[in-house]
Amino acid sequence: MATVSNRRVILKRYVTGFPSEDDMEVVTAEAPPLAVPTGSSAVVVKNLYISCDPYMRHRMTRHEVPNYVPDYVPGEVLTNYGVMKVISSGHADFKTGDFVWGLTGWEEYTLIDHPETLSKINHPELPLSYYTGVMALPGLTSYAGFFEVCKPKKGDYVFVSAASGAVGQIVGQLAKITGCYVVGSAGSDEKVNLLKTKFGFDDAFNYKKEPDLDAVLKRSTLIIINKNNLGKSLPQRMLSLSDNNSYQCRL
Ligand SMILES: NC(=O)c1ccc[n+]([C@@H]2O[C@H](COP(=O)([O-])OP(=O)(O)OC[C@H]3O[C@@H](n4cnc5c(N)ncnc54)[C@H](OP(=O)(O)O)[C@@H]3O)[C@@H](O)[C@H]2O)c1
Repeated sequence: MATVSNRRVILKRYVTGFPSEDDMEVVTAEAPPLAVPTGSSAVVVKNLYISCDPYMRHRMTRHEVPNYVPDYVPGEVLTNYGVMKVISSGHADFKTGDFVWGLTGWEEYTLIDHPETLSKINHPELPLSYYTGVMALPGLTSYAGFFEVCKPKKGDYVFVSAASGAVGQIVGQLAKITGCYVVGSAGSDEKVNLLKTKFGFDDAFNYKKEPDLDAVLKRSTLIIINKNNLGKSLPQRMLSLSDNNSYQCRL
């Protein structure tokens, strides 16, 4: 039987510091058999869109103490959330031609042994790429974090850090449709401009350019933190603002 090639991105080595292209390599390997073996409950997918998320950097470090997600292994394909088309299926919930989203490989074809981790795309009329963003993990994270944890009320003042990112931009928009006043921070003027002109934030600032973060944070009275890996200065300032009773801080 003719074999099918499979371009894939592998991690070359554990990363220290800022990741570079050189830490990864595109290789061409043989694809898994495109038909699942009889009796198997696996699926084979063709990957259509693959998300690149900040938490992947964390997985590129070797951790002595295991984390909530496993470290990547040098020489192996990177994995993350993506949108896929089912090529063949041994699982009752999926059939050939279905569109699904979930964890997959940074490669053209992936054999998924445990397809119960995948979610079927029931609205393929939406742009499929939305299932790496607002319809997938960033959307779920934003929705649950904002509505289930922060429990906002109409009229609340909301602050979002890393506001132009995958999660932050959705939180900001959810806050707006809830009737909140929304302030966002981001690390460049271009991102700040996007927040004000495209994502509908009421106000936004470039935290790298603000000499007095305390003053700028006092523009908002309820603070929601998009927990992220950007320096600790903003969250620390928010916690100290919350100590003086004039501010609430919901994490
Ligand atoms: N995406 C998801 O589905 C998801 C799910 C669960 C949890 N989370 C968590 O939510 C937070 C935001 O995630 P996201 O996916 O929306 O990320 P993101 O905002 O798209 O990207 C991270 C942002 O952090 C800022 N940043 C500050 N210091 C940085 C540094 N040293 N290196 C890289 N970026 C730096 C940058 O924005 P500025 O230039 O504006 O500073 C960068 O764009 C992260 O802590 C993530 O782990 C995300």
